Amino acid sequence: MPAAMRIQTVGDALVLDDDLVVAGENALVLGSLPDGFFDLIYMDPPFNTGRAQARHSLSVSAAADGDRLGFGGRRYRSQLLRTLAFDDAFGDYLGFLEVRLARARELLAPHGTLYFHIDYREAHYCKLLLDELFGREAFLNELIWSYDYGAKPRRRWPAKHDTILVYVRTPGGHWFDADAVEREPYMAPGLVSAEKAARGKRPTDVWFHTIVPTNGREKTGYPTQKPAGVLRRMVAASSRAGGWCLDPFAGSGTLGAVCQALGRRFVLIDHSPVAIEVMRSRLGGGAAAPGADTEAALFAAAVDQRHELHGL
Ligand SMILES: C[S@@+](CC[C@H](N)C(=O)[O-])C[C@H]1O[C@@H](n2cnc3c(N)ncnc32)[C@H](O)[C@@H]1O
Repeated sequence: MPAAMRIQTVGDALVLDDDLVVAGENALVLGSLPDGFFDLIYMDPPFNTGRAQARHSLSVSAAADGDRLGFGGRRYRSQLLRTLAFDDAFGDYLGFLEVRLARARELLAPHGTLYFHIDYREAHYCKLLLDELFGREAFLNELIWSYDYGAKPRRRWPAKHDTILVYVRTPGGHWFDADAVEREPYMAPGLVSAEKAARGKRPTDVWFHTIVPTNGREKTGYPTQKPAGVLRRMVAASSRAGGWCLDPFAGSGTLGAVCQALGRRFVLIDHSPVAIEVMRSRLGGGAAAPGADTEAALFAAAVDQRHELHGL
């Protein structure tokens, strides 16, 4: 049974008794949270791709003169229903991140851990920034999340991974429960004993994991939604049962969903009203009932096909 959840706006006084979703600019909210409070902070900022992130929601129906060609040569007509977008074009990207990362470090408990999710365009600049803010000795891991989805250019190696930089508040003093992480199959089970093969292995720093399945129950329709399976490993390893986790760029609320499943508490922040509605529906709390006519609900229900601009 998940703990109660409240949805607040940035101006409200923050009381950390229930799980919390806060609508507003994260720099402001981070300033009003208590220092040293969080076991884990997950940050998945817009990736500075230089363009707006958008998902187009289309309705598709069979039509002999349609604009789309499907299997078996059948034609379909598509109609744009709605575009869900947020700005991902920053002038001073590192400056934007710096203030939030510096504050995130203060918010971590002495045993706390930051997971900073970024893509190959900015990962190396962000590593230098994080080394400066946390200290190189606080760098724990570079995780590679490898997936296989989307267009594959023919003039270079298709980029199919994200980078997650992991830093701890206190070098050597961080919480890490390796046994709490689900095991995975060995790549070459024939090379280990039958007993080991049956038990599986602890994941390494390279995580092969599918994107959120397009037709699965997990899908919210929010652009850049991350798979719960990827966040589950972080939460299981780096937060204690009942510990508090924070996501200042919460989007569809994946961190909250994982915390609910694993018995952790959470604070999620996002300035997009659509993200707040998606989280309201997904996490099921708040004063107002999830509106069937909200933009997010409409979006999630009506989508037949989605195009992801990011990474193409
Ligand atoms: C990459 S998405 C996060 C996706 C999320 N991890 C998920 O699984 O759904 C980044 C989110 O950060 C939010 N955002 C960007 N800048 C923000 C800011 N300054 N304050 C609050 N939210 C912000 C955007 O609205 C967007 O929802």
